Parts: sequence; C-alpha cells; structure tokens
Amino acid sequence: SAEIEAYKEKIRRLLVEKDACLVAHYYTDDLIQQLADETGGCVSDSLEMARFGARHPASTLIVAGVRFMGETAKILSPEKRILMPTLEATCSLDIGCPADEFAAFCDQHPDREVVVYANTSAAVKARADWVVTSSIALKVVEHLADQGKKIIWAPDKHLGEYVRKETGADMLLWDGSCIVHEEFKAKGILDLKQVYPDAAVLVHPESPDAVVQIADAVGSTSQLIKAAQDMPNDTFIVATDRGIFYKMQQAAPGKRLLEAPTGGSGAVCRSCAHCPWMAMNGLENILAALEEGADEIHVDATLREQALKPLQRMLDFSA
Ligand code: 13P
Ligand code: SF4
Repeated sequence: SAEIEAYKEKIRRLLVEKDACLVAHYYTDDLIQQLADETGGCVSDSLEMARFGARHPASTLIVAGVRFMGETAKILSPEKRILMPTLEATCSLDIGCPADEFAAFCDQHPDREVVVYANTSAAVKARADWVVTSSIALKVVEHLADQGKKIIWAPDKHLGEYVRKETGADMLLWDGSCIVHEEFKAKGILDLKQVYPDAAVLVHPESPDAVVQIADAVGSTSQLIKAAQDMPNDTFIVATDRGIFYKMQQAAPGKRLLEAPTGGSGAVCRSCAHCPWMAMNGLENILAALEEGADEIHVDATLREQALKPLQRMLDFSA
C-alpha cells in the first residue's frame, strides 16, 4: 500500500543519511527482510548476522530481531551505535536463564567447559567459555568432546539433547526452551505426511526430540533453507518459525512449503509458529529508531570484555 511504500522510502533515505545498515533475522516480517535486501543490509541466521554486522563499515546498525542479537552486535562492535526497533523483543531462552542462577550452576561444576547458546544475555555469555549458534553447535561440541572435555550446556534443552545425541559428548543441560519450537508435535507432522507422502520434514533443533526424530534434515535457519534448495523433494514440511518461508521460497521457487502443525491432531495452525518477540519488529519502529535513536543497546564495559572472548572464539572457530 501507499503507506507501506512511504515508510520504506523514509527508511531507505534515513539509512543513507545516518550511515546505518539494516541487519535482519529470517523470522522478521517479509517487508523488513525485503528492505534489508534492497538496501545492502543482510537477512540471515544469528551467526551470519553477528559476522555481517561486525564486518560492515556502517557506524550504526539497526538490528531487527531479538535483544540477544543486538547485544551480540554491540559486544563485537562497541564503537558502533546499535539500535533495535524495540528493546522489548526478547527470547524465552534468554528469560529462562538468569545470569546469577546460571553462574551458581556453573560454580557447582567447575570441571566442565561452559557452552552457551547465542540466545542468552551478555551476562550469561560473560560466564561462558564458548558461545555457539545452531549453525555450529555440533562442530564446536564435537571439537570439545574430541579433547575429552565435559560440558555444561545452556539454555536450550532440546538443542542440547540433539547435540548430545549426535556427538556423544558428556553434557549437563540447563532446562530452557523456545516457546515457538516447543509447540511442534510429531503426531501432527506424521498426519500431514500421510497427505503428502513425498514431503521431506525440515526441523530446527530447538524442537522437541520426538520431532527431531522424524526429521529428514535438522539444522539452523540457514541450513534448513539450504536443505529446501538442495533436496530433490518438491514438498517440505517445515518445523520452524514461519518467518523463514519468505527466504526459503525464494531459495526453492516452485517447491511446496508447508507449515508443520503445532497441534497434535494434524490441524495446521496458521499463526502459532511465530515468535511473539520477532513479531514486535515493524517498519514503524525501524523508522522511529532511525529518527529518534531510541532503543539503543548498551553493554557494560567489563561485561562486554568478558562476553567478547567466548563470542570471538566462536567466530574464529567458524571462520
Ligand atoms: P538460527 O541461528 O538458526 O537463525 O536460530 C535463531 C533462533 O532464535 C531460532 O529460534
Ligand atoms: Fe527465542 Fe524461540 Fe523466538 Fe528464537 S523463536 S527468538 S529461540 S523465542
């Protein structure tokens, strides 16, 4: 509509005027992903968002996603101004892992290497030896297990369980989960497969074990997009946030992409598998961020230095 075009036009102009760059996650609104693409920003998974933001020469980054993504950008690029459409966009994994409780847990197991998922606060990262995203969790844990290291894993128990099974590593798991992926049901997916017997099932490893068990491919958002592109099937049942369909359909034009059911009965829920915090990002608050410089991310300097080590380790490991 004309209103949307007006927003986009203003945002395009301000991005140039303010030397800013839009970095968006695959789960944000299609319009945001489009705009990030058109303006030389990036649309990607959480690992690539971190890499891209750190390398980009812009003095301001607008991080459209959830808070940990903005914090990660600030930790990697303290000299940049990091703005978010809203600082209220958090993540159930981050909420479920308070830094003080986590530190106490780590203190009880001093013999273990501490590996935390990127979906955590700067304070939790500061307590970690490694940060990982779902794109490289397996590789990092394999590397640690090869050295005979025992591991504390936080906060996602489902991703942790998946990594533990795949690598055989000795892992103590924190009890956190993603409220979006936790809702996928194996029964619903199997019922849907009866209707589309040739469909391949693509699953993000934040999903429960029973769902991971019936997957044809398991991986991070970028890995699932690649799977849809590369696998020969022409139909896919996709168990992750529906925001991914925008890029997945571009990568796999002509293929049929179905939302994995979040109910047990096979009923496809058209609005459930969408992160409420990702949904807080919109053109309106992106424009407000650019105009007013509100919702800026700040990370305490000491905390930043501590959190940088495990984050930089991840980037160096995956470089
Ligand atoms: P990815 O790193 O796979 O993009 O995952 C981020 C996330 O929040 C998934 O829910
Ligand atoms: Fe967190 Fe889940 Fe939302 Fe990703 S989809 S940001 S893991 S609540």
